[in-house]
Amino acid sequence: MPKNILIQFDCDPQPSTFDAVVAVDAGADVLLRHGGVTPETVAPLVHGAMFTRGGEDLKATAIFVGGSDAAAAEAVAARVRKTFFGPVRVGVLVDPNGANTTASAAVIAAARHVALGPGCHAVVLGGTGPVGQRVARLLAGKAARVTLVSRSLDRAAAAVRRIEAAVPHASITACGADRPAIATADVIVAAGAAGVTLLDEAGRRGATAARVIIDLNAVPPAGVAGILATDKARPEGQTVLYGALGVGGTKMKIHKAAIARIFADTAAFLDAEELLAIGERL
Ligand SMILES: NC(=O)c1ccc[n+]([C@@H]2O[C@H](COP(=O)([O-])OP(=O)(O)OC[C@H]3O[C@@H](n4cnc5c(N)ncnc54)[C@H](OP(=O)(O)O)[C@@H]3O)[C@@H](O)[C@H]2O)c1
Repeated sequence: MPKNILIQFDCDPQPSTFDAVVAVDAGADVLLRHGGVTPETVAPLVHGAMFTRGGEDLKATAIFVGGSDAAAAEAVAARVRKTFFGPVRVGVLVDPNGANTTASAAVIAAARHVALGPGCHAVVLGGTGPVGQRVARLLAGKAARVTLVSRSLDRAAAAVRRIEAAVPHASITACGADRPAIATADVIVAAGAAGVTLLDEAGRRGATAARVIIDLNAVPPAGVAGILATDKARPEGQTVLYGALGVGGTKMKIHKAAIARIFADTAAFLDAEELLAIGERL
């Protein structure tokens, strides 16, 4: 049996150690780690993955695309996909800064308590960041009515346009942080920057219909007042609360299952939607 080789394409100068450790724990025998990868430089690296092993052995080579700049990583991932032709391809996982696995885990947590669909109103705070945009996209893909909130209505509108392009039937609205539509939200996901409070005590009191509130920020102070990072389906009145570590376990399971999948299926190209599907099957 050939060794499982995971080739890490990271847009940052130094490839992520987090992604490397998870890869080894999930079954990679050998890591080839490339930093500073761009769409212009990635094609020869992909050729090296495609043309070295033949037949069934090709399965034992896979690619991970990551980095702290999600847009840059997506551009690299798109170029990787374009470089493949016919059956000469290897499995690919795209998870810049953990955004896809984290967003998938958040949506899975919400779905444990609320039926995601047209009857569900979901508010995504910090919705313009990599994690927030993916949470909003996945919720829209489940046909929930989504409100994407930003401090800037223009930035929120730009994020909404990107999501509408990816999910043609999305029911999604941009909203400024001054009127975040909290009162009618069944689901609230706070995906703001680390250490930033997006919903304070008074804001929480306005969330009168919320069945689930998820705060993805693990760095004090909390993104949502009163939520602990370790909260995992902690009930409070009619609402169930999740903190960053509370969804982190599911995120790690999805990440490891995804690594296993890209070593099993050379056709796998795992973005947020595919990772959500993997998480739903766990
Ligand atoms: N649990 C996990 O495993 C895990 C994994 C990855 C990430 N995370 C966490 O998930 C959260 C989102 O990650 P991300 O990378 O998407 O975050 P990010 O890009 O750093 O920030 C998300 C959004 O927060 C808003 N924001 C930034 N500074 C702010 C401020 N001072 N006040 C109010 N809003 C501010 C910005 O939106 P606007 O400028 O448009 O308002 C930004 O687009 C972070 O807290 C991160 O630590 C958790």
